[in-house]
Amino acid sequence: MLRLVRPAMAHMASFVDALCEGYSRDTLREETPASIAQVADNPAWLLGQINDAPLTIVLPDGSLGKRVPETALWYVDGDEFLGSVHLRHHLNEVLEQWGGHIGYAVRPSAQGRGHASAMLAGMLDHARVHHPQLERVMLTVNLKNPASMRVVEKNGGVLADSIPHPWVPGDMGARYWIALR
Ligand SMILES: CC(C)(COP(=O)(O)OP(=O)(O)OC[C@H]1O[C@@H](n2cnc3c(N)ncnc32)[C@H](O)[C@@H]1OP(=O)(O)O)[C@@H](O)C(=O)NCCC(=O)NCCS
Repeated sequence: MLRLVRPAMAHMASFVDALCEGYSRDTLREETPASIAQVADNPAWLLGQINDAPLTIVLPDGSLGKRVPETALWYVDGDEFLGSVHLRHHLNEVLEQWGGHIGYAVRPSAQGRGHASAMLAGMLDHARVHHPQLERVMLTVNLKNPASMRVVEKNGGVLADSIPHPWVPGDMGARYWIALR
């Protein structure tokens, strides 16, 4: 059965498989054999990083930023990991420019089956229930990612503006808002 759940040890073997097939925890940073081995060798450490995230975050330019509280959910079929979706509980200066409230990714072998659309819909429901302070959420998408733009638009995303991508020189990004209430 397809479900959005808190990441747990039962999903870790499949998560490592996903990393090996090209799934990346960060759309701006590819995994390496070393980063995959770190997860494979210590799955409990990764679960701690996800479910009880540190207070700082390494930004794409390598600098250290303050991490906004976030909720990470995994989309699974039984113990099989299919994808992840993150909700940042509020924006800061960095996330207002790029990142927004919600980000998601689907493992390569599971793409094109509606999973990202379902994960985003599920996280919007989660936000409606658990984060009543959020009237609306912002999402950013690289204009070179039409599949993700479609996912956002299918979930009610309204294009606010297009901006130069702050981390990828030459790329443009779209900022969308989705009303929650
Ligand atoms: C983008 C991504 C999340 C999409 O996941 P997915 O599970 O394949 O998405 P879905 O199947 O729910 O929906 C994709 C939609 O885009 C459409 N689509 C796919 N490729 C497309 C393209 N090149 N141009 C336009 N639309 C496209 C699909 O037809 C589908 O729309 P439909 O349901 O109306 O047919 C996935 O490719 C991914 O994880 N990429 C790497 C990480 C990433 O880019 N994350 C998003 C950052 S903003």
